[in-house]
Parts: sequence; structure tokens; C-alpha cells
Amino acid sequence: PKTIFSGIQPTGVPHLGNYLGALRQWAKLQDTAEADTTLLYSLVDLHAITIRQNPKQLRQWKKESLAMLLAIGLDPKRSVIFHQSAVPAHAELMWILSCQASTGYLGRMTQWKDKTANEKDGSEKLKLGLFSYPVLQAADILVHRATHVPVGHDQAQHLEFARQIANGFNETYGRHVLTPPETLVSPAKRIMSLTEPDKKMSKSHSNPKSRILLTDPDDVIRSKIKSAVTDSYEGITYEPERRPGVSNLLDIFYHSGEAVETSSQDELAKHMQGLSLRALKEEVAMAVTNVIRPIRERYESLVHDQAALDAVAEKGAQKAVRSAAATMVEVKSAVGLM
Ligand code: TYM
Repeated sequence: PKTIFSGIQPTGVPHLGNYLGALRQWAKLQDTAEADTTLLYSLVDLHAITIRQNPKQLRQWKKESLAMLLAIGLDPKRSVIFHQSAVPAHAELMWILSCQASTGYLGRMTQWKDKTANEKDGSEKLKLGLFSYPVLQAADILVHRATHVPVGHDQAQHLEFARQIANGFNETYGRHVLTPPETLVSPAKRIMSLTEPDKKMSKSHSNPKSRILLTDPDDVIRSKIKSAVTDSYEGITYEPERRPGVSNLLDIFYHSGEAVETSSQDELAKHMQGLSLRALKEEVAMAVTNVIRPIRERYESLVHDQAALDAVAEKGAQKAVRSAAATMVEVKSAVGLM
């Protein structure tokens, strides 16, 4: 039977990129999975603190992110939804894997290189937790023996690392203890920033107009899309290299599921050929508001019920603890810790 695992950092309200690139897949998999498939979705708060967080803010974000996972359609009766730090085996397996992980490989990871590009080697500011981030991510996946991991494109390298470390561990200890996971990259694998369409849409970008939040009211969504950076070329064409802004709008429209049915973004562009960019933006805004409105409304009705959210987290943690325990017995016995 299959086991699906994925995670999201509780570092603010998820944006449209998180939704189209990952969260929507999570909910879809939940609804289409065979009855014997296990699904686990985690709010990875230990990953969140690889960057300095305000404790009060982080507590609030954890609660809001949990409400958002329910709002996008995860059902706690079907999916195990939990805070990573409530399941100590994640950190425990991470330690064991870090004794297996090559520092050379970790140093070549794109995310590490991007985040440290401005720091000098040996800088006091570079933290060990940020460097070993992918090891914790591998532990998240491997501790639950996940077979499939639905993510956006930016996580593909971390998934490759998880496979390598699983295979390396099995080879070192001469038995099949860890399951190398398959990556399920969503069709909307890379949604770009609205203000700098050559960069991915991200929670940390300083300009709030660069992203659409799943809590944004309709008028805010419309205004963000209206001011999205495009270009001054003729007509509407899908050319991600030459026209990143317009192509991103087409991607969003195409993947929203609200556009006329076409088999590609290119065909969608041809279908809209006669329209002005302003009209394209209006159509995209309509589609995005239609996608986000029901999520926002569910979120608003869930986020204030602290007791219900706590109960979901508690139940999820109990199930996740059990799922992880079985792997830890095998890992510890393979290594000689027990
Ligand atoms: P995070 O919190 O940055 O993002 C959560 C998910 O959203 C996807 N995503 C995007 N997809 C398309 N376009 C975008 N602009 C975009 N931005 C984000 C991400 O690919 C991701 O799937 N390291 C992970 C969290 C993690 C994890 C794991 C994931 C920790 N342990 C184990 C899978 C399995 C992260 O920071 O995701």
C-alpha cells in the first residue's frame, strides 16, 4: 500500500503558489487515494526555526496554518495532520541520518547556496540547522516510510537527497530499512512572483503584492493581479522565457481550472489571442477569486475555534507518533542502538 507524506512551513498564510503547487494536490490525493493508502501532512515547525522566528508569531502561524489545511479540504478523519515538533522521532531520525549525510552534498544544495550567497564562509550567521535542513526533510519522509511525496518543483532536489540518503543507509547496514520515496511534482509546479516574474512566488519576498494569499479578499486579489508586471509585446502568447509575466498569468489561469478547457497554456493563449492584457488580467482575477473565495470563507469559520484545532492537532500527533515508532525500531536495531 502507498503512503503519502508532505509538509509545509507554518511561516505565514500560504499563497497561491503553495496552493496550486502543493496543497491542492494534497487534497486531491486524499479524495482519489485507494482505501489502504495512508496520508500524512505535516506543519514543519522545526524547519520554520532554521530562520529566526518570533515565538509569539510562530505560535499564531502554527494555529492559522492548521486551520488553512482544513480549509483547503483536508479531512482529519482521512489524513493525519500534525505539527512536526509534536513527533520527536522526526528529530531523532534526523540525527541518525546526519551521521550518514555528506557535507559536500549538502553544501551543493541550491537552497543553501541561495540563502548563503551573501555570507562569507565561516560566518557566525550561518547556522547548522539551515545547513542540515534537507536531512530533517529526509527524516520527515523516511520516518513514515512514505512512498510518494507531492511537492512543487523547488523541492525536487531535497527529494533526490532523501532518496540518496535512504539508499545509502540501506547499503551501509545491509538491509532494506528505509524506503526511497517517489516525487510527485504537481502540474502547477512553479508559480512565479507577480512583481518579479523571473522569481518564484514566495512567502518571504518583501513585496506583499508579489503573492496572492489564500486569505486575500476578492478586491485585494483583483488589485494584485491588475498591478502584476507584464510587458509591452503585442497580443497574448505563452513564452515563459521572453514573456515571464504574461506566461505566469496564463499558467495561473490554466491551472486554476476556471479557464475554458484547453490542452496546454499555449492553446489557452491562442484562444485568448484577440484580448488586451487588461482583459486577460480581468479573466485571471475572476478565476483566482473563484478558487480562493471558498477557501477563505472556510478558513474564517475555522480559525477561531481553538479547541477544535487543538483536538485535530492532538489526534494527528498521536497517529503520527505511532506511524514513526515502527520505523525507529527498525532503524535503531539496524544501527545497533538496540
Ligand atoms: P514550503 O513551505 O516552502 O512550501 C510548501 C509547498 O509549496 C510548494 N511551493 C510552490 N509550488 C509552486 N510554485 C511556487 N511558487 C511554490 N512555492 C512553494 C513547495 O514546493 C512545497 O511543496 N522544505 C519544504 C517543507 C518540507 C517538506 C518535507 C516537503 C519539510 N519536510 C517533507 C515534503 C516532504 C518547504 O519549505 O516547503
